[in-house]
Amino acid sequence: MERDELTPLEAHARIEALRERIERHNRLYYQAARPEISDREYDLLVDELAALEEKYPDLTRENSPTRTIATDRTEGFAPVTHPVPMLSIANTYAPEEVREFDARLHRMLGLEAGRPLEYVVELKIDGVAIALMYEDGRLRYAATRGNGVVGDDVTANVRTIRKIPAALASAAAPAPPGRFEARGEIFFRRPDFERLNDDRARQGLEVFANPRNAAAGTLKLLDSRLVARRPLDAVLYAVGAADAPLPPTHAEVLDRLDALGLPTNRERRICRSVDEVLEAVGRWETGRRRLDYDIDGLVVKLNDMALRDRLGATAKSPRWVIAYKFSAEQAQTRLEAIEIQVGRTGVATPVAHLKPVLVAGSTIHRATLHNADEIARKDIRVGDTVVIEKGGEVIPKVVRVVESLRSGPEKLYEFPASCPVCGGALRRLDDEAAHRCVNASCPAQIKGRLLHWAARSVMEIDGLGDKLVDQLVDGGHVRDIADLYGLGAGQLAGLERMAEKSAGNLVRQIEASKARPLGALIHGLGIRFVGATGARLLARHFESLDALAAAPEDELLRIDGIGEIVARSIREFFSEPRNLRLIERLRAAGV
Ligand code: IVH
Repeated sequence: MERDELTPLEAHARIEALRERIERHNRLYYQAARPEISDREYDLLVDELAALEEKYPDLTRENSPTRTIATDRTEGFAPVTHPVPMLSIANTYAPEEVREFDARLHRMLGLEAGRPLEYVVELKIDGVAIALMYEDGRLRYAATRGNGVVGDDVTANVRTIRKIPAALASAAAPAPPGRFEARGEIFFRRPDFERLNDDRARQGLEVFANPRNAAAGTLKLLDSRLVARRPLDAVLYAVGAADAPLPPTHAEVLDRLDALGLPTNRERRICRSVDEVLEAVGRWETGRRRLDYDIDGLVVKLNDMALRDRLGATAKSPRWVIAYKFSAEQAQTRLEAIEIQVGRTGVATPVAHLKPVLVAGSTIHRATLHNADEIARKDIRVGDTVVIEKGGEVIPKVVRVVESLRSGPEKLYEFPASCPVCGGALRRLDDEAAHRCVNASCPAQIKGRLLHWAARSVMEIDGLGDKLVDQLVDGGHVRDIADLYGLGAGQLAGLERMAEKSAGNLVRQIEASKARPLGALIHGLGIRFVGATGARLLARHFESLDALAAAPEDELLRIDGIGEIVARSIREFFSEPRNLRLIERLRAAGV
């Protein structure tokens, strides 16, 4: 998109919008462990923001996401201040940018282009960053990156990881005196991840979308006995604070970690020049498929520690390191049909049914088509051969049609006029790309609202998954969230695949959800434009749901972070008699 033509006012609006979007995706990735977009899409947003900030320096802010590290901190963990900040790494997607990185280092260090620099190329494991602090050889604490300065204390959880020693040292290397902080990544190997998901599916629990989300979610469990049942793995790849002197090269630092009994990744290579780095990059583009864990790229690190010190860091990342990220894997397959899925807000999303195809290690059957405009813009027809792409963590998407493979029978798609679930009208509101089912009692919407209410990030009713919700709604047991609180164990035990024990568990879970904080409750109501953040802001301002329900628009507008659209939507929600009745019934149930 051409953005050179923006007026300063437009640039301002765009910058604000980008910051908000990036911050939302930061929360989804680092705190909720449920990203909605690929790393590549995320990086493009950050690049666009950085370019605008460079062009309009007056609009730059200290706390812009281009200059700060998104936090992974979540409730329930004590803070740990890192003795040395835990930074992030600058990303590139093109081999030429790795060359530019090398040229930049030569320039900054005042070296001639002819004198090659030495690098270590490592795998960029897609997991969660961790800092392990050892004191006189004993593990003192383990902390997440947090916002780079203060992280979460996850020691109890990390102690359950078999590969992480409680004490350092071996015959070859005595324990280092004083502080020795090893840094690395916590992750799941794919077979372990699949076993975990199979177990969860059998218990009717929500499955994790990928190993990275599973690792992030597991590390932040509040009960370390649950963590102990999941086989997390770890590799260490750096030293943070250290009282004793370190070896002069990174390669030797890694060997030292090994000698101390800390797990490192064997797949590392010393490259004597940037050309050798690029060779390694080329090999891993395909080589990564034979690994039994996910990597999202390579990390290229300057080997000489003294040169590193001379280069230093920006606010976000050290200058001596760069990540080369792999692009999303693509594949071609046939689009066999288009189906409409209706979500909790009534939005009707077209989904492509594909001839199954293997992409990035998993078989893809479906891909999102977003909305009617996207189908028209890409001229997608039923029967087309399409290119699909999987960014690792997101639902795969259809990138484009291979027009040269059209043979005639492909059919134009007409967006249905009525909801495939309830038969109600599908309408398109003026300002939206989406079609919506306008029938609020549409079973698909009811199911969506129940699943949203039960979600881990909302009222946390573990065990209320989609199979069960289907049965509850289709069987006429539940019509809205308040009905959940009238369910008895006897009634549940009559359902398919529901043993007495799990029925009892579920009833207890539902009961426990009554005590969730106000923010979760507000979020769970599904007020349009009020997500997790908005709900948190509202809960901080109002002491009860009644106070919120009674608040006039101007009071809402005085809350920092609540704009006109959100305020109006809140007023609309609380002036709807149906919603007021629902709240009354929730209250009567003790929520
Ligand atoms: S070095 C500032 N090496 O990638 C440099 N990081 O996108 C310290 N990561 O926060 C990190 N594999 O969580 C390094 N071999 C590796 C890595 C690695 C994965 C993660 C790490 C970091 C993130 C940056």
